[in-house]
Amino acid sequence: MKKTRLCDLLGIEYPIIQGGMVWIANAELAAAVSNAGGLGLISPTAGMSPNGDQVANLKQQIKTARSLTSKPFGINLAILGSPHIEDLIAAVIIERVSVVVTAAGNPALYTSRLKEAGIKVLHVAAAVRHAQSAERRGVDGIIAEGYEAGGHNGTDELTTFALIPQVVDAVTIPVVAAGGIADARGVVAALALGADGVQMGTRFVATHECVAHPNFKEAIVKANDVDTVITARKLAPARILKNEVATRILEMETAGASAEELIAFIGIARSRTGQLEGDLANGEAYCGSIAGMIKEIKSAGEIIGSIVSNYDTVLASLR
Ligand SMILES: Cc1cc2nc3c(=O)[nH]c(=O)nc-3n(C[C@H](O)[C@H](O)[C@H](O)COP(=O)(O)O)c2cc1C
Repeated sequence: MKKTRLCDLLGIEYPIIQGGMVWIANAELAAAVSNAGGLGLISPTAGMSPNGDQVANLKQQIKTARSLTSKPFGINLAILGSPHIEDLIAAVIIERVSVVVTAAGNPALYTSRLKEAGIKVLHVAAAVRHAQSAERRGVDGIIAEGYEAGGHNGTDELTTFALIPQVVDAVTIPVVAAGGIADARGVVAALALGADGVQMGTRFVATHECVAHPNFKEAIVKANDVDTVITARKLAPARILKNEVATRILEMETAGASAEELIAFIGIARSRTGQLEGDLANGEAYCGSIAGMIKEIKSAGEIIGSIVSNYDTVLASLR
């Protein structure tokens, strides 16, 4: 498989990142991805109780990951709306983690502090202007995420296929394609569009190592191509599995619900209810539209192994 400049930047063998995933990007998953040659990311809330201590949880997750792998792994931090962001930034600096992927917020706030501490910084962007602004703020790479992706999305609703080449043309730093990628075909396509690597989320939920509830993993395996939907378009768009909660949010939006009403209904832990507790009637389950292609729960190592072994076959089929 092609070694790209992302591999050199992050010290990894294959240009594959397991995306941060609120509540469920746990140390065991991240370590398994890193051991398989990719880069695993941990989320501070992984496996945590609804009102748990994110900083303590993150430190514990880092400790666990270090006991499971000697390879590099990273931490995903959402900047916007995180009341604990200052403490989390301090924690990753003290812990001397290799990589931080920042998302949902202004990269001007923390990039230089993280880089001064020797941490590589990647920033998630869903439009060219955001990628350019992150590059100006000194990030080492862009994760360009199309709105096929599970979880929170940009408001411009650009698809991965349209977004990646435009971002690649607009910045000079490495670009990682995210959204709608789950096998070697997707990886080859992303690299053909000029990306230096890929980030996958939904595919890695349906793994043995992910702490997600079995109900959520099974729902991904059962999902077909049209089983996800974007909710809360005017508030904070999120792609989630279609269920009663999704229907209710969409009904509220159609009826003209205010931001306050939507926030009151969705709350901050409804995605925990779906993803970690497995209550798919009352919880949200962030999920990408590639879910329809995922037919089996596998180990993270099997997923990366199969991408690596099929990569050349896919490439050869283009000749
Ligand atoms: C369950 C779930 C939770 C997610 N939570 C986060 C998050 O907390 N922070 C973040 O930057 N991205 C989050 N994402 C996005 C992923 O990191 C990744 O970019 C995305 O899943 C890629 O698209 P895919 O789902 O089509 O693979 C989440 C995705 C999923 C599926």
